[in-house]
Amino acid sequence: MKRKQVRIDMLQIVDDPRKVEDAYARQYDDLAGKVASLVSSRSGIIAEVGCGRGQLTIPLAKLLPRHRFNVVDKFTGAYSRTLTLLNKALSRAKLTRRVKVHKADYLDWLREEFSDKYVGVISSEFLPEIDSYELRMFLSECYRVVRHGGLTIHSFLSPIARNRRQKLMIEADSNPKWTKTPPKEWFSPRPDQVVSTLKRAEFRNLRVKRIKSNPIMRARAAEHLLESWDVKSSFWKKHRTRLVREGLEIPDWMIISGRKA
Ligand SMILES: C[S@@+](CC[C@H](N)C(=O)[O-])C[C@H]1O[C@@H](n2cnc3c(N)ncnc32)[C@H](O)[C@@H]1O
Repeated sequence: MKRKQVRIDMLQIVDDPRKVEDAYARQYDDLAGKVASLVSSRSGIIAEVGCGRGQLTIPLAKLLPRHRFNVVDKFTGAYSRTLTLLNKALSRAKLTRRVKVHKADYLDWLREEFSDKYVGVISSEFLPEIDSYELRMFLSECYRVVRHGGLTIHSFLSPIARNRRQKLMIEADSNPKWTKTPPKEWFSPRPDQVVSTLKRAEFRNLRVKRIKSNPIMRARAAEHLLESWDVKSSFWKKHRTRLVREGLEIPDWMIISGRKA
């Protein structure tokens, strides 16, 4: 197998499964930069819902050294190992004092938080975990706990594919025929639905940003990515030729934000 990683016209082709994690980490670094640019540099506490193993939390906390973070995740089921990974990553990054970890259901946890406490409530790849009913409850709780002038920011992979490779990735991760962990309602909510739900929750100054993702995972790198996303091996077998030749592409990142006036 030819192991290589090259850049062509901003597209990064990854064939080597050992490079998948790095390619992903770079995506989160970019994402953290965009999220940090929306947040005021004044100090305050940011809540993050569905923090996982800190993929966004850690690069973001490094970029916002004056902020403290309260992060929550249920760390169960397919994500049961992530608490240990998060704690290790926070220790390595020397962030354990600034990032407080809570193991809880997000809604139970948010409902216990005081109103107007946070300068921001954020999430990354959490909206794919919930459905439209929960989205409404979640965003109105975000509104309650954010202070006036504060923000809510949600990033997620776009459900709207720009090409065949992205379409295949979305199919693998959302069709119950292929994924071991089918979503409740969607791969991700449509951006216009998030915007209208934010509006309904009374957020103003709504912004939608799309970041074109660049990595294409091909061959064994695609197989590795599918495994890490809990996609059944039958998907690899069925699409093997295409996955080796064309690969999969991470859909674009959406960053949607709103301000509490
Ligand atoms: C796809 S992961 C996203 C992890 C990370 N934020 C990222 O950007 O990659 C979704 C996370 O949401 C968490 N989650 C799902 N449902 C939850 C709930 N009801 N309460 C708290 N966390 C939940 C999962 O445990 C998981 O860590």
